[in-house]
Amino acid sequence: MTEILEKDLHHWLEHVRIYANNGKVADYIPALANQQPEINAVAYFPLEGDVIHAGQSEYSFTIQSISKVITLALALVQHGENAVFNRVGKEPSSDPFYSIAKLEVESPGKPFNPMINAGALAVTNMIRGRNSEEMVEEVLQLVRLLTNDEEVYYDEEVAKSEFETAFLNRSLAYFMKQNGIITGSVEELIDVYTKQCAISLNVKQLARIGAVFANDGRDPDTNNPLIPSHVARICKTFMVTCGMYNASGTFAIEVGIPAKSGVSGAIMSIIKGGGGLAVFGPSLDERGNSVVGMQFLQKLAQEKRWSIF
Ligand code: DON
Repeated sequence: MTEILEKDLHHWLEHVRIYANNGKVADYIPALANQQPEINAVAYFPLEGDVIHAGQSEYSFTIQSISKVITLALALVQHGENAVFNRVGKEPSSDPFYSIAKLEVESPGKPFNPMINAGALAVTNMIRGRNSEEMVEEVLQLVRLLTNDEEVYYDEEVAKSEFETAFLNRSLAYFMKQNGIITGSVEELIDVYTKQCAISLNVKQLARIGAVFANDGRDPDTNNPLIPSHVARICKTFMVTCGMYNASGTFAIEVGIPAKSGVSGAIMSIIKGGGGLAVFGPSLDERGNSVVGMQFLQKLAQEKRWSIF
């Protein structure tokens, strides 16, 4: 593991920040359209030593699709592999994250993987709780454990904004309800899903979650097990095969580390034997990945020879 220093983070963030001009802030969730493209931040939480960071590392953003890794871990812990993979597949889809196309083609409406929206909705539907409030609490509790921060909550404005406009996600959910993949109230499911996506963290907190995965599910400070190691391994594998959506193959070649992006512009990544690395920049490429984040990870991973391949 090549050492990584705070000056490396400053250097590469400064080098790639201009790429923000090559992308566009997500606006299909109205509240996200207010994000400032020039804001960027990075943090590295090592398994040994203190967190290092650069840019606006206190700035909080919503984690969006990065929550899919967390709900997958939670569902696997609560129900086991058989139950989860009965409802969702294990294969990359090559379609955009919001796509409904394969639900009709594949039998019988089972989503390809838990990292696309359809798959994540099917997974969230499994979270324990008598109502949406209890389900959201389960997700929040896991995030609080992983970040070691009891204050973690979701951004109510972003959650409400997505809930009011999530017509495509409702369509995916209703399609899967018709096919028996999803049970119960779709409105409650969308309520939980939009709140999990709106969980608000800064890069230091997100990097700590990455560090737990880098540490095979154990707390990076205390080494206490937080997630079983086989669950952490499954999550990391999905991050490699599907974490950057239909850019996952290119990302595996160019960068080669487990990573998960969100349309807010955040990316959580894992350096094997090293720690968790989180980067944020809200300007996105056409596939919904942060342009600054992608450039940053590519440059640093190549310099440090982080590829796991
Ligand atoms: O469901 C959605 O569309 C958003 N809440 C999350 C999508 C997302 O982050 C995809 N990321 N690149």
